[in-house]
Amino acid sequence: MRGQHAETEQTAVSRSHRNKGLATLLKARSLAWARENGGTEASAGGTVLNLAILKLNHRLGYLPEPMWVTWRLER
Ligand SMILES: CC(C)(COP(=O)(O)OP(=O)(O)OC[C@H]1O[C@@H](n2cnc3c(N)ncnc32)[C@H](O)[C@@H]1OP(=O)(O)O)[C@@H](O)C(=O)NCCC(=O)NCCS
Repeated sequence: MRGQHAETEQTAVSRSHRNKGLATLLKARSLAWARENGGTEASAGGTVLNLAILKLNHRLGYLPEPMWVTWRLER
């Protein structure tokens, strides 16, 4: 939490326990905790290729910000 803003850095579930709703439950609980502690907004980051976290975040009410791309040049 930073002021009234809650940010999720990383969410991870062991492969053997995925797709059982655990991350959804954990993140919903952490958002409820943030709200109970004065949080009014929340954000999270991640790649658009990660369909599981996209679905999960959408389910919890997160809306995507305008798309942006990070470019890297290696020589
Ligand atoms: C992302 C992650 C945390 C999700 O954990 P989880 O406990 O499996 O998540 P949930 O079960 O709550 O929800 C995942 C949803 O995505 C769906 N999903 C999973 N893989 C998917 C795919 N390739 N395409 C579309 N949907 C997918 C699941 O079916 C589930 O939806 P459902 O409940 O309607 O069936 C887990 O996959 C993980 O640890 N990944 C590696 C770390 C990571 O990438 N973290 C996110 C960035 S911080």
